[in-house]
Amino acid sequence: MQPINVLAGVDWVGVYNPGMDVFDELYPTQSGTTFNSYLIKGSEKTVLIDTVEDHFYADFIQRLGAICAVEDIDIIVSNHTEHDHSGSIAMLLEQNPNIQVYSSKSAQLFLRQQLNREFNCHAVKDGETLDIGGRTLKFVVAPFLHWPDTMLTYLVEDQVLFSCDAFGAHHCPQQGLIFSDEIEDQELLVYDAKFYFDTIIRPFKANVRNALAKLDGVGVKTICPSHGPVRRNDVAQMVELYHKWAYVDEQSGEKRVIMLEHSPHGTVRAMGDRIKEVLEQRGCTVVRFSAIDMNEEEFMAELERCDALMVGAATINRDAGPPVWQALRLLSAVAPKKKLAAVYGAYGWSGEAVELLEQRLKGLRYKLAAPGVRWQFNPTDEDIEKCLALAGSVADAL
Ligand code: FEO
Repeated sequence: MQPINVLAGVDWVGVYNPGMDVFDELYPTQSGTTFNSYLIKGSEKTVLIDTVEDHFYADFIQRLGAICAVEDIDIIVSNHTEHDHSGSIAMLLEQNPNIQVYSSKSAQLFLRQQLNREFNCHAVKDGETLDIGGRTLKFVVAPFLHWPDTMLTYLVEDQVLFSCDAFGAHHCPQQGLIFSDEIEDQELLVYDAKFYFDTIIRPFKANVRNALAKLDGVGVKTICPSHGPVRRNDVAQMVELYHKWAYVDEQSGEKRVIMLEHSPHGTVRAMGDRIKEVLEQRGCTVVRFSAIDMNEEEFMAELERCDALMVGAATINRDAGPPVWQALRLLSAVAPKKKLAAVYGAYGWSGEAVELLEQRLKGLRYKLAAPGVRWQFNPTDEDIEKCLALAGSVADAL
């Protein structure tokens, strides 16, 4: 287990995890992952950028120990305190309590709660620099990329960006390799980086754009992310892809409304036809999805550019049907442009779906344009009027 030299005085000392098939018990991965940690040697200070999951500590310490004793580490820079990066800090501090931990202010708070002990820490300010002897670290605070604590660290003289989760990929190279240009299947690597973006970074597109703006004009020759290969020949390509993936067309000037429907017996859909007509008469563009055969990527893209969400659902066994809940799980997988919503639905004898969906939407901080409308079996004229009025309330609110 040898470190991999990135450039003079900078080594990768992370661990490989080729067997990981579900990250965070949430996201399936097909290429494993790495937990990246980097050692930087200045003439005065030795700095470790992030650590690894605690149960990989033995591998980590073996690789790190090949070039540096824990006693010789002066500073740990904790770019982000999610367990896969902060998990070994406690053990390193146990071994060497003199290590000073540099982090953002939020990370300092999180680390206190994780470590439950006193430790020597320093909360950096955005743009703060640290001279480690012939080399300078510059800290770029980038909150919510993807935790409130996230920061990036830039090694000024060598133009290396330690980018934390940004530009990462769950992709585990063969043992002994760590650079992206050493990966045979470049198409898979781009796929893994995009999958990583979609699952981890996508809800924070605005924060990606802010971070990219901060980096604009900053020379970057090497990107050292927290997961997956180090980028040295494809830095420009990765930055370009991040610009593309983080882009959202929010300036269309249209009023777009998504209608998501689950209609086992057709009445929800028939009521949806009437709602759609009202919305279109009021100048809205309506994008309609059936919960049972929707394209999830298209639904998420619409959530990012739509002004309102209308959900229509039947009550099945005192609940909304599983396809609706399955679709609504995507609401937290993106940052919806606006959080305006309304709910309508049919039922036979109990009718809980509308209220349960409203509770879910309110829990996700959606504002309801008007109380939901529900009807029993087939809608009466009065039910239809209420539904048309609901569509009018959505149009009024836009
Ligand atoms: Fe890879 Fe947000 O931790």
